[in-house]
Amino acid sequence: MSEPRTANRPAGRSGPALVRTRADLSQVCGRSGGLGVVMTMGALHEGHAANIRAARACCGTVVVTVFVNPTQFGPGEDLDRYPRTLDADLELCAAEGVDVVFAPPVAEVYRGPAQVTVHPGPLGAELEGASRPGHFAAVLTVVHKMLHIVPDARHAFFGEKDYQQLTVIRRMVHDLDLDCRIHPVPTVREPDGLARSSRNRYLSGPERRAAAALPTGLRAGVAAGPSGPAAVLAAAGAVLDSEPGVDTDYLVLRGPDLGPAPGSGPARLLVAARVGATRLIDNMPVT
Ligand code: PAF
Repeated sequence: MSEPRTANRPAGRSGPALVRTRADLSQVCGRSGGLGVVMTMGALHEGHAANIRAARACCGTVVVTVFVNPTQFGPGEDLDRYPRTLDADLELCAAEGVDVVFAPPVAEVYRGPAQVTVHPGPLGAELEGASRPGHFAAVLTVVHKMLHIVPDARHAFFGEKDYQQLTVIRRMVHDLDLDCRIHPVPTVREPDGLARSSRNRYLSGPERRAAAALPTGLRAGVAAGPSGPAAVLAAAGAVLDSEPGVDTDYLVLRGPDLGPAPGSGPARLLVAARVGATRLIDNMPVT
């Protein structure tokens, strides 16, 4: 591997270097002087492309990780049916000018059963964490590992769509003094407002139409912002309740750091709902 950043790149094909092991990753990245990493579980879509573009705009070298992290799936969650689309992912990465795609097998990331994990603190047990015990510990553990496995990862980019994930990652980086800047990237939406998600592909036609109630409800809540927190929740709740295909798990107003909602000023409105068998989440900033 004498040619950094082109290792494992098929002859005659431009695009990212595809690497599977830590050793190859170190060799391919060399000394970048601080690169940008976009962590994903594959099945890349426009939301990931936005994260990659933000990384591209900020960093000389961009690494995308594609790793379906088994530890963050609870019993009965969709690990086996989680889409694996590496060829299409590589095409998207090539089109977005990614330098390296790191797609390791599970044994390359978890070298035997781990006894030490990252505790997400109290926020890890709330909202998504309430219905997915252990989820955020597993997410933080793999993000922490990737920040060390990817050499010189000084910038990491995460979508605001998974707002609680973004918040606990920021908190981990702050509280554990990790040498990495976390960049939030605004949610990418379909024309009717539905947030782009790998899970949208599971929705049937009628479910897909019903799912539009999530962004419509959030927007109604945002519009009610000047009337105060109760009005925000009432407006968003009315829209969600009027859609029989949507089974709301939670609709909450919190502070921007997901602490208690302020009486006035910036806040975050978050929703989780089941649409058919698919659980969807979304959020928007409210003032
Ligand atoms: O958001 C995701 O796709 C995953 O939770 C992440 C951050 C890549 C960790 O596995």
